[in-house]
Amino acid sequence: MDLPLLIANWKMNANTVFVDKFLADMAHCDAWSGLADWVICPPFPYLLRFGDSLKSFGVALGGQDVSAHSQGAYTGDVAADMLKDVGCAFVIIGHSERRQWLGETSLHCYEKIQTSLQAGLTPIYCVGESYEQRCANQLRICLKEQLGVLNKLSVQELSQCVLAYEPVWAIGTGEVASIEQINAAHAEIRAIISEFDQGLAETTKILYGGSVKPENASALFDSNQVNGFLVGGASLEADSFYNIGIACSRSY
Ligand code: PGA
Repeated sequence: MDLPLLIANWKMNANTVFVDKFLADMAHCDAWSGLADWVICPPFPYLLRFGDSLKSFGVALGGQDVSAHSQGAYTGDVAADMLKDVGCAFVIIGHSERRQWLGETSLHCYEKIQTSLQAGLTPIYCVGESYEQRCANQLRICLKEQLGVLNKLSVQELSQCVLAYEPVWAIGTGEVASIEQINAAHAEIRAIISEFDQGLAETTKILYGGSVKPENASALFDSNQVNGFLVGGASLEADSFYNIGIACSRSY
């Protein structure tokens, strides 16, 4: 069985003191590598602060977003090549906070996925329904719209993407989706992917995100539909993030 893929999404939190303390706290945990495949996505200004330190723990670096453009007059944007240049291997794309507050569309996300793949980054494409959509029984419609844009990718390109199912109502709310809800959504996602390629439907990594903590990670990871987690709040302390890896290890 593959190790769980555990991704820390720090969102707009941290400063230099925070990063240095996090690194010092990481050193107090037992070995990170071997327990999970780890990725930390700090805000852009702190990517370089990690330097090579994360490598020594066997932890990869990721961006929280990327421009759809490769370079040029796009004030405030950060290009995929720049993320790669400062040591990123991953990038989060289509997080619901960006869809919700910045009006990012699935088509826009597709363009970001394209430039990221060209730069050699692994896109972590986030999908998931709002509370209103869940109440209106629109999970499948929502996932179809968000994942539909991926049919523009070749099978080879799609095989390099990771998906994260993040129901909007479970993000930062303390409300966790039930295992049944997660399994049903992940099965729906695999069914949609199977329309592009049957083999990929089985091999694509699908993470769950939404109020994951060390206390609930073991039960959630028990589902063979879940390949890892995208973690917000509980990734802001090295101990807590590490303990999510420990919790998962109880399930394999
Ligand atoms: P949360 O955030 O773990 O704080 O719910 C998850 C996310 O937004 O990726």
